[in-house]
Amino acid sequence: MSKTPINQQAVDNNIAKLRIKEVGKASIREIVALVNLVEEETGDKYVRMEMGVPGLPPAQVGTQAEIEALKSGVASKYPMMDGIKPLKYEASRFVKSFMNVDVDPAGCIPTVGSMQGTYAALFAASNTNPEKDTVLFIDPGFPVQKQQMMVMGHKFETFDVFEHRGEKLKDKLENILSKGHINSMVYSNPNNPSWICFTEEELQIIGELSKKYDVIVMEDLAYFAMDFRKDLFTPGKAPYQPTVANYTDNFVLFISSSKIFSYAGQRCGVMVISDTLFNREYANLARRFQSNTFGHTITLRILYSLSSGTCHSAQHALAAMFKAASDGKFNFVDEVKEYGEKAKIMKKLFTDNGFGIVYEKDGDDPIADGFYFTINYPGMTGEQLLANLLYYGVSAIALKETGSEKEGLRACVSHVDRTQFDDLKYRLEQFARDFPN
Ligand SMILES: Cc1ncc(COP(=O)(O)O)c(C=O)c1O
Repeated sequence: MSKTPINQQAVDNNIAKLRIKEVGKASIREIVALVNLVEEETGDKYVRMEMGVPGLPPAQVGTQAEIEALKSGVASKYPMMDGIKPLKYEASRFVKSFMNVDVDPAGCIPTVGSMQGTYAALFAASNTNPEKDTVLFIDPGFPVQKQQMMVMGHKFETFDVFEHRGEKLKDKLENILSKGHINSMVYSNPNNPSWICFTEEELQIIGELSKKYDVIVMEDLAYFAMDFRKDLFTPGKAPYQPTVANYTDNFVLFISSSKIFSYAGQRCGVMVISDTLFNREYANLARRFQSNTFGHTITLRILYSLSSGTCHSAQHALAAMFKAASDGKFNFVDEVKEYGEKAKIMKKLFTDNGFGIVYEKDGDDPIADGFYFTINYPGMTGEQLLANLLYYGVSAIALKETGSEKEGLRACVSHVDRTQFDDLKYRLEQFARDFPN
Protein backbone atom coordinates (compact mmCIF):
# COMPACT_ATOMS: atom_id res chain seq x y z
CA MET A 1 0.00 0.00 0.00
CA SER A 2 1.39 3.44 -0.91
CA LYS A 3 0.98 6.42 1.40
CA THR A 4 -2.76 6.59 1.86
CA PRO A 5 -4.83 9.79 1.75
CA ILE A 6 -5.41 9.57 5.53
CA ASN A 7 -2.56 8.91 7.94
CA GLN A 8 -2.86 5.23 8.85
CA GLN A 9 -1.38 5.72 12.28
CA ALA A 10 -4.06 8.28 13.14
CA VAL A 11 -6.78 5.82 12.08
CA ASP A 12 -5.23 2.94 14.02
CA ASN A 13 -4.62 5.01 17.17
CA ASN A 14 -8.20 6.19 17.28
CA ILE A 15 -9.53 2.68 16.69
CA ALA A 16 -7.54 1.64 19.77
CA LYS A 17 -8.66 4.71 21.72
CA LEU A 18 -12.34 3.86 21.09
CA ARG A 19 -11.63 0.21 21.97
CA ILE A 20 -13.13 -0.97 18.70
CA LYS A 21 -12.13 -4.62 18.41
CA GLU A 22 -12.77 -5.10 14.71
CA VAL A 23 -13.36 -1.93 12.78
CA GLY A 24 -15.04 -3.80 9.96
CA LYS A 25 -17.75 -4.87 12.40
CA ALA A 26 -18.19 -1.48 14.05
CA SER A 27 -21.70 -0.05 14.47
CA ILE A 28 -22.76 3.18 12.72
CA ARG A 29 -22.26 5.14 15.94
CA GLU A 30 -18.74 3.75 16.36
CA ILE A 31 -17.77 4.68 12.81
CA VAL A 32 -19.19 8.16 13.34
CA ALA A 33 -17.14 8.60 16.53
CA LEU A 34 -13.99 7.23 14.88
CA VAL A 35 -14.22 9.43 11.80
CA ASN A 36 -14.91 12.50 13.97
CA LEU A 37 -11.74 11.82 15.93
CA VAL A 38 -9.58 11.16 12.86
CA GLU A 39 -10.89 14.28 11.12
CA GLU A 40 -10.16 16.34 14.20
CA GLU A 41 -6.65 14.95 14.59
CA THR A 42 -5.55 15.08 10.95
CA GLY A 43 -7.58 18.03 9.67
CA ASP A 44 -8.50 15.83 6.67
CA LYS A 45 -12.13 15.56 5.63
CA TYR A 46 -13.74 12.19 4.99
CA VAL A 47 -16.26 11.39 2.32
CA ARG A 48 -18.82 10.43 4.94
CA MET A 49 -21.27 7.84 3.83
CA GLU A 50 -22.00 6.07 7.10
CA MET A 51 -24.89 8.11 8.45
CA GLY A 52 -28.44 7.90 7.11
CA VAL A 53 -29.41 11.44 8.04
CA PRO A 54 -30.99 14.13 5.88
CA GLY A 55 -28.55 16.47 4.17
CA LEU A 56 -31.03 19.14 3.06
CA PRO A 57 -32.73 22.04 4.87
CA PRO A 58 -36.16 21.34 6.42
CA ALA A 59 -39.22 21.95 4.29
CA GLN A 60 -40.18 25.60 4.71
CA VAL A 61 -43.90 24.96 4.75
CA GLY A 62 -43.43 22.78 7.84
CA THR A 63 -41.18 25.19 9.71
CA GLN A 64 -43.55 28.07 9.01
CA ALA A 65 -46.63 26.18 10.21
CA GLU A 66 -44.79 25.06 13.31
CA ILE A 67 -43.73 28.62 14.19
CA GLU A 68 -47.30 29.79 13.79
CA ALA A 69 -48.59 26.95 15.93
CA LEU A 70 -46.12 27.80 18.66
CA LYS A 71 -47.03 31.48 18.52
CA SER A 72 -50.68 30.55 18.92
CA GLY A 73 -49.83 28.84 22.20
CA VAL A 74 -50.13 25.09 21.45
CA ALA A 75 -47.02 24.41 23.54
CA SER A 76 -49.04 24.61 26.76
CA LYS A 77 -51.67 22.12 25.61
CA TYR A 78 -51.52 18.34 25.54
CA PRO A 79 -52.39 17.17 22.03
CA MET A 80 -55.00 14.42 21.66
CA MET A 81 -53.45 10.99 22.19
CA ASP A 82 -54.31 9.81 18.71
CA GLY A 83 -53.33 13.08 17.03
CA ILE A 84 -54.75 16.48 16.20
CA LYS A 85 -57.69 16.41 13.81
CA PRO A 86 -56.06 18.36 10.94
CA LEU A 87 -53.11 15.97 10.88
CA LYS A 88 -55.31 12.88 10.93
CA TYR A 89 -57.38 14.28 8.09
CA GLU A 90 -54.38 15.40 6.01
CA ALA A 91 -52.52 12.13 6.55
CA SER A 92 -55.52 10.20 5.26
CA ARG A 93 -55.73 12.59 2.30
CA PHE A 94 -51.99 12.27 1.59
CA VAL A 95 -52.28 8.48 1.50
CA LYS A 96 -55.17 8.81 -0.94
CA SER A 97 -53.36 11.43 -3.07
CA PHE A 98 -50.05 9.62 -3.41
CA MET A 99 -50.93 5.94 -2.90
CA ASN A 100 -54.58 5.82 -3.96
CA VAL A 101 -55.35 4.00 -0.71
CA ASP A 102 -58.42 4.73 1.43
CA VAL A 103 -57.88 4.83 5.17
CA ASP A 104 -60.12 6.44 7.76
CA PRO A 105 -58.42 9.39 9.54
CA ALA A 106 -59.00 7.44 12.81
CA GLY A 107 -56.25 5.01 11.81
CA CYS A 108 -53.74 7.78 10.96
CA ILE A 109 -51.82 8.32 14.17
CA PRO A 110 -48.84 10.60 14.79
CA THR A 111 -45.81 9.08 16.47
CA VAL A 112 -42.48 10.38 17.75
CA GLY A 113 -40.75 9.55 14.49
CA SER A 114 -41.44 6.32 12.66
CA MET A 115 -39.16 4.83 15.25
CA GLN A 116 -41.86 5.09 17.89
CA GLY A 117 -44.46 3.92 15.40
CA THR A 118 -42.65 0.69 14.68
CA TYR A 119 -41.99 0.13 18.37
CA ALA A 120 -45.68 0.46 19.19
CA ALA A 121 -46.88 -1.60 16.25
CA LEU A 122 -44.34 -4.39 16.77
CA PHE A 123 -45.23 -4.47 20.45
CA ALA A 124 -48.95 -4.79 19.72
CA ALA A 125 -48.44 -7.34 16.93
CA SER A 126 -46.18 -9.46 19.13
CA ASN A 127 -49.03 -9.73 21.63
CA THR A 128 -51.93 -10.50 19.33
CA ASN A 129 -51.71 -14.27 19.64
CA PRO A 130 -49.50 -16.36 21.95
CA GLU A 131 -48.94 -18.91 19.17
CA LYS A 132 -47.72 -16.20 16.82
CA ASP A 133 -44.82 -14.99 18.88
CA THR A 134 -42.32 -14.04 16.15
CA VAL A 135 -41.82 -11.05 13.84
CA LEU A 136 -40.34 -11.69 10.40
CA PHE A 137 -37.96 -9.10 8.94
CA ILE A 138 -37.57 -9.22 5.17
CA ASP A 139 -33.95 -8.09 5.17
CA PRO A 140 -31.69 -6.25 4.57
CA GLY A 141 -33.18 -3.70 6.92
CA PHE A 142 -32.89 -0.91 9.38
CA PRO A 143 -30.91 -2.31 12.33
CA VAL A 144 -32.64 -0.22 15.01
CA GLN A 145 -35.91 -2.09 14.52
CA LYS A 146 -34.17 -5.26 15.63
CA GLN A 147 -32.84 -3.39 18.61
CA GLN A 148 -36.46 -2.50 19.38
CA MET A 149 -37.30 -6.21 19.39
CA MET A 150 -34.38 -6.87 21.69
CA VAL A 151 -35.52 -4.14 24.09
CA MET A 152 -39.08 -5.51 24.09
CA GLY A 153 -37.86 -9.04 24.59
CA HIS A 154 -39.94 -10.39 21.72
CA LYS A 155 -38.78 -12.89 19.12
CA PHE A 156 -37.88 -12.20 15.51
CA GLU A 157 -36.53 -14.02 12.46
CA THR A 158 -34.95 -12.59 9.32
CA PHE A 159 -33.85 -13.59 5.86
CA ASP A 160 -31.94 -11.73 3.16
CA VAL A 161 -34.29 -11.23 0.21
CA PHE A 162 -31.37 -11.08 -2.30
CA GLU A 163 -31.79 -14.69 -3.48
CA HIS A 164 -35.58 -14.60 -3.23
CA ARG A 165 -36.72 -11.85 -5.56
CA GLY A 166 -39.70 -12.12 -7.89
CA GLU A 167 -41.76 -15.29 -7.78
CA LYS A 168 -39.11 -16.98 -5.60
CA LEU A 169 -40.30 -14.77 -2.76
CA LYS A 170 -43.54 -16.76 -2.62
CA ASP A 171 -41.86 -20.07 -1.80
CA LYS A 172 -39.57 -18.49 0.73
CA LEU A 173 -42.36 -16.70 2.56
CA GLU A 174 -44.78 -19.61 2.32
CA ASN A 175 -42.16 -21.85 3.85
CA ILE A 176 -41.81 -19.59 6.88
CA LEU A 177 -45.39 -18.39 7.31
CA SER A 178 -46.90 -21.86 7.03
CA LYS A 179 -45.28 -22.78 10.33
CA GLY A 180 -47.85 -20.52 11.96
CA HIS A 181 -45.59 -18.64 14.37
CA ILE A 182 -45.25 -15.30 12.55
CA ASN A 183 -47.42 -12.37 13.66
CA SER A 184 -46.06 -9.69 11.32
CA MET A 185 -43.67 -9.05 8.42
CA VAL A 186 -41.53 -5.92 8.22
CA TYR A 187 -39.67 -4.31 5.32
CA SER A 188 -38.80 -0.85 4.05
CA ASN A 189 -39.63 0.21 0.52
CA PRO A 190 -37.49 1.81 -0.97
CA ASN A 191 -35.17 -0.27 1.12
CA ASN A 192 -32.64 0.93 3.64
CA PRO A 193 -29.81 -0.15 3.06
CA SER A 194 -29.96 -1.62 -0.45
CA TRP A 195 -32.36 0.79 -2.21
CA ILE A 196 -34.16 -2.09 -3.85
CA CYS A 197 -37.86 -1.46 -4.38
CA PHE A 198 -40.29 -4.34 -4.40
CA THR A 199 -42.04 -4.89 -7.70
CA GLU A 200 -45.84 -5.10 -7.94
CA GLU A 201 -45.45 -8.86 -8.24
CA GLU A 202 -43.53 -9.01 -4.96
CA LEU A 203 -45.95 -6.71 -3.14
CA GLN A 204 -48.81 -8.86 -4.36
CA ILE A 205 -47.11 -11.99 -3.02
CA ILE A 206 -46.56 -10.36 0.37
CA GLY A 207 -50.12 -9.04 0.50
CA GLU A 208 -51.77 -12.30 -0.51
CA LEU A 209 -49.73 -14.38 1.89
CA SER A 210 -50.52 -11.96 4.70
CA LYS A 211 -54.18 -12.74 4.14
CA LYS A 212 -53.64 -16.47 3.76
CA TYR A 213 -51.66 -16.78 7.00
CA ASP A 214 -53.24 -13.90 8.91
CA VAL A 215 -50.02 -11.95 9.29
CA ILE A 216 -49.85 -8.15 9.68
CA VAL A 217 -47.67 -6.36 7.11
CA MET A 218 -45.60 -3.44 8.40
CA GLU A 219 -44.53 -1.36 5.43
CA ASP A 220 -41.91 1.21 6.33
CA LEU A 221 -42.12 4.10 3.88
CA ALA A 222 -39.33 6.24 5.33
CA TYR A 223 -38.29 6.99 1.72
CA PHE A 224 -41.81 7.55 0.38
CA ALA A 225 -41.89 8.40 -3.36
CA MET A 226 -38.09 8.45 -3.53
CA ASP A 227 -37.88 5.82 -6.28
CA PHE A 228 -36.93 8.50 -8.79
CA ARG A 229 -37.25 6.19 -11.80
CA LYS A 230 -40.86 7.41 -11.94
CA ASP A 231 -42.25 10.78 -10.99
CA LEU A 232 -44.43 9.89 -8.02
CA PHE A 233 -45.46 13.47 -7.32
CA THR A 234 -48.75 13.45 -9.14
CA PRO A 235 -51.41 14.03 -6.48
CA GLY A 236 -54.54 12.06 -7.25
CA LYS A 237 -53.04 10.47 -10.39
CA ALA A 238 -50.97 7.40 -11.23
CA PRO A 239 -48.16 6.52 -10.90
CA TYR A 240 -48.59 6.12 -7.16
CA GLN A 241 -46.15 5.04 -4.48
CA PRO A 242 -46.36 1.23 -4.74
CA THR A 243 -47.77 -0.42 -1.64
CA VAL A 244 -48.89 -3.72 -0.19
CA ALA A 245 -52.12 -1.94 0.77
CA ASN A 246 -53.34 -2.74 -2.76
CA TYR A 247 -53.21 -6.45 -1.92
CA THR A 248 -54.19 -6.82 1.73
CA ASP A 249 -56.25 -5.03 4.37
CA ASN A 250 -53.99 -6.26 7.15
CA PHE A 251 -51.38 -3.50 7.15
CA VAL A 252 -49.66 -0.71 9.01
CA LEU A 253 -47.79 1.89 6.93
CA PHE A 254 -45.14 4.13 8.46
CA ILE A 255 -44.64 7.54 6.88
CA SER A 256 -41.70 9.40 8.34
CA SER A 257 -41.14 13.13 7.83
CA SER A 258 -37.41 12.73 8.44
CA LYS A 259 -36.18 12.12 4.90
CA ILE A 260 -39.03 13.13 2.60
CA PHE A 261 -39.52 16.51 4.31
CA SER A 262 -36.00 16.72 5.87
CA TYR A 263 -37.78 17.08 9.22
CA ALA A 264 -35.90 14.50 11.29
CA GLY A 265 -35.20 16.80 14.22
CA GLN A 266 -38.84 17.32 15.14
CA ARG A 267 -39.41 13.57 15.51
CA CYS A 268 -42.87 13.39 13.98
CA GLY A 269 -44.22 10.76 11.64
CA VAL A 270 -47.51 8.94 11.17
CA MET A 271 -48.53 5.34 11.31
CA VAL A 272 -51.43 4.46 9.07
CA ILE A 273 -53.42 1.45 10.21
CA SER A 274 -55.90 -0.13 7.81
CA ASP A 275 -59.54 0.24 8.85
CA THR A 276 -59.89 -3.53 9.24
CA LEU A 277 -56.85 -3.90 11.47
CA PHE A 278 -57.61 -0.75 13.47
CA ASN A 279 -61.01 -2.13 14.45
CA ARG A 280 -60.02 -5.75 14.79
CA GLU A 281 -60.52 -7.36 18.19
CA TYR A 282 -57.92 -9.81 19.51
CA ALA A 283 -58.73 -11.84 22.64
CA ASN A 284 -55.09 -11.77 23.63
CA LEU A 285 -54.85 -7.97 23.42
CA ALA A 286 -57.88 -7.81 25.74
CA ARG A 287 -56.16 -10.12 28.22
CA ARG A 288 -52.75 -8.51 27.97
CA PHE A 289 -53.68 -4.81 27.76
CA GLN A 290 -57.34 -4.71 28.87
CA SER A 291 -58.00 -3.22 25.51
CA ASN A 292 -59.92 -4.94 22.81
CA THR A 293 -59.05 -3.53 19.40
CA PHE A 294 -55.63 -3.26 17.74
CA GLY A 295 -56.11 0.50 17.25
CA HIS A 296 -56.99 1.23 20.87
CA THR A 297 -54.14 -0.93 22.11
CA ILE A 298 -51.74 1.16 20.05
CA THR A 299 -53.11 4.57 21.07
CA LEU A 300 -54.61 4.21 24.54
CA ARG A 301 -52.19 1.67 25.92
CA ILE A 302 -48.83 1.70 24.16
CA LEU A 303 -48.40 5.26 22.84
CA TYR A 304 -50.06 6.67 25.96
CA SER A 305 -47.54 4.81 28.11
CA LEU A 306 -44.57 5.73 25.93
CA SER A 307 -45.01 9.48 25.41
CA SER A 308 -48.65 10.51 25.87
CA GLY A 309 -48.81 11.75 22.33
CA THR A 310 -46.56 13.51 19.86
CA CYS A 311 -45.17 17.08 19.95
CA HIS A 312 -48.13 19.43 19.36
CA SER A 313 -46.41 21.99 17.12
CA ALA A 314 -44.66 19.33 15.01
CA GLN A 315 -48.08 17.80 14.28
CA HIS A 316 -49.15 21.14 12.83
CA ALA A 317 -46.01 21.17 10.71
CA LEU A 318 -46.69 17.70 9.36
CA ALA A 319 -50.35 18.51 8.70
CA ALA A 320 -49.27 21.59 6.71
CA MET A 321 -46.69 19.63 4.66
CA PHE A 322 -49.18 16.86 3.85
CA LYS A 323 -51.81 19.44 2.93
CA ALA A 324 -49.51 21.49 0.70
CA ALA A 325 -48.35 18.29 -1.04
CA SER A 326 -51.90 17.02 -1.67
CA ASP A 327 -52.92 20.48 -2.89
CA GLY A 328 -50.11 20.18 -5.45
CA LYS A 329 -48.34 23.23 -3.98
CA PHE A 330 -45.35 21.51 -2.42
CA ASN A 331 -43.45 19.11 -4.64
CA PHE A 332 -41.56 17.31 -1.90
CA VAL A 333 -40.17 14.77 -4.39
CA ASP A 334 -38.40 17.47 -6.40
CA GLU A 335 -36.82 18.77 -3.21
CA VAL A 336 -35.11 15.45 -2.47
CA LYS A 337 -34.20 14.44 -6.05
CA GLU A 338 -30.71 15.77 -5.39
CA TYR A 339 -30.00 12.50 -3.52
CA GLY A 340 -30.69 10.49 -6.66
CA GLU A 341 -28.58 12.77 -8.81
CA LYS A 342 -25.63 12.53 -6.45
CA ALA A 343 -26.01 8.75 -6.20
CA LYS A 344 -25.78 8.40 -9.97
CA ILE A 345 -22.45 10.26 -10.09
CA MET A 346 -21.04 8.54 -7.00
CA LYS A 347 -21.98 5.04 -8.16
CA LYS A 348 -20.12 5.70 -11.39
CA LEU A 349 -17.02 6.85 -9.51
CA PHE A 350 -17.05 3.55 -7.63
CA THR A 351 -17.77 1.29 -10.58
CA ASP A 352 -15.15 3.07 -12.73
CA ASN A 353 -12.62 2.00 -10.12
CA GLY A 354 -13.36 -1.69 -9.92
CA PHE A 355 -16.19 -1.68 -7.36
CA GLY A 356 -19.44 -3.54 -7.93
CA ILE A 357 -23.01 -2.69 -6.91
CA VAL A 358 -24.27 -5.49 -4.64
CA TYR A 359 -28.05 -5.09 -4.84
CA GLU A 360 -28.39 -4.21 -8.49
CA LYS A 361 -31.83 -5.03 -9.81
CA ASP A 362 -35.57 -4.94 -9.22
CA GLY A 363 -36.90 -7.63 -11.53
CA ASP A 364 -35.19 -6.85 -14.85
CA ASP A 365 -34.64 -3.17 -14.10
CA PRO A 366 -31.53 -1.64 -12.58
CA ILE A 367 -32.35 -0.25 -9.14
CA ALA A 368 -33.08 3.42 -8.71
CA ASP A 369 -30.50 6.02 -7.72
CA GLY A 370 -31.39 7.36 -4.31
CA PHE A 371 -30.44 7.84 -0.70
CA TYR A 372 -28.30 4.68 -0.41
CA PHE A 373 -26.43 2.27 -2.62
CA THR A 374 -24.38 -0.84 -1.90
CA ILE A 375 -20.81 -1.58 -3.00
CA ASN A 376 -18.36 -4.45 -2.99
CA TYR A 377 -14.76 -4.96 -4.13
CA PRO A 378 -13.29 -8.15 -5.59
CA GLY A 379 -11.38 -10.27 -3.11
CA MET A 380 -12.46 -8.34 -0.01
CA THR A 381 -15.11 -9.08 2.56
CA GLY A 382 -17.30 -6.17 3.54
CA GLU A 383 -15.39 -5.86 6.77
CA GLN A 384 -12.01 -5.75 5.02
CA LEU A 385 -13.32 -3.23 2.54
CA LEU A 386 -14.58 -0.94 5.29
CA ALA A 387 -11.32 -1.20 7.21
CA ASN A 388 -9.28 -0.43 4.08
CA LEU A 389 -11.47 2.44 2.87
CA LEU A 390 -11.03 4.23 6.18
CA TYR A 391 -7.38 4.82 5.24
CA TYR A 392 -8.59 6.40 2.00
CA GLY A 393 -10.92 8.86 3.71
CA VAL A 394 -14.14 7.07 2.82
CA SER A 395 -16.54 5.85 5.51
CA ALA A 396 -19.59 3.59 5.25
CA ILE A 397 -21.13 0.65 7.15
CA ALA A 398 -20.81 -3.07 6.54
CA LEU A 399 -23.89 -4.72 4.99
CA LYS A 400 -23.64 -7.50 7.53
CA GLU A 401 -24.90 -4.95 10.10
CA THR A 402 -28.20 -4.83 8.25
CA GLY A 403 -29.14 -8.48 8.03
CA SER A 404 -27.65 -8.88 4.56
CA GLU A 405 -25.78 -12.08 3.77
CA LYS A 406 -23.74 -10.30 1.11
CA GLU A 407 -20.21 -9.01 1.45
CA GLY A 408 -20.18 -5.29 0.93
CA LEU A 409 -20.97 -1.87 2.30
CA ARG A 410 -23.90 0.49 2.48
CA ALA A 411 -23.06 3.96 1.22
CA CYS A 412 -25.31 6.88 2.04
CA VAL A 413 -25.13 9.90 -0.26
CA SER A 414 -26.87 12.49 1.88
CA HIS A 415 -23.86 13.95 3.66
CA VAL A 416 -21.47 13.97 0.74
CA ASP A 417 -21.15 17.42 -0.78
CA ARG A 418 -20.70 17.75 -4.53
CA THR A 419 -17.48 19.67 -3.82
CA GLN A 420 -16.08 16.38 -2.47
CA PHE A 421 -16.54 14.42 -5.69
CA ASP A 422 -13.03 15.25 -6.89
CA ASP A 423 -11.58 13.98 -3.62
CA LEU A 424 -13.70 10.84 -3.88
CA LYS A 425 -12.50 10.24 -7.44
CA TYR A 426 -8.86 10.68 -6.56
CA ARG A 427 -9.12 8.49 -3.45
CA LEU A 428 -10.90 5.68 -5.28
CA GLU A 429 -8.37 5.79 -8.12
CA GLN A 430 -5.57 5.37 -5.61
CA PHE A 431 -7.50 2.57 -3.91
CA ALA A 432 -7.82 0.76 -7.24
CA ARG A 433 -4.08 1.17 -7.90
CA ASP A 434 -3.17 -0.10 -4.43
CA PHE A 435 -5.55 -3.08 -4.65
CA PRO A 436 -5.43 -4.11 -8.30
CA ASN A 437 -7.96 -6.82 -9.22
C1 LIG B 1 -36.10 2.36 7.02
C2 LIG B 1 -36.18 3.39 8.08
N1 LIG B 1 -37.21 3.38 8.94
C3 LIG B 1 -37.33 4.30 9.89
C4 LIG B 1 -36.39 5.28 10.07
C5 LIG B 1 -36.54 6.25 11.20
O1 LIG B 1 -37.48 7.23 10.91
P1 LIG B 1 -37.81 8.37 11.95
O2 LIG B 1 -36.74 9.40 11.86
O3 LIG B 1 -39.14 8.91 11.46
O4 LIG B 1 -37.93 7.79 13.31
C6 LIG B 1 -35.29 5.34 9.21
C7 LIG B 1 -34.25 6.35 9.40
O5 LIG B 1 -33.11 6.22 8.96
C8 LIG B 1 -35.18 4.36 8.20
O6 LIG B 1 -34.13 4.35 7.35
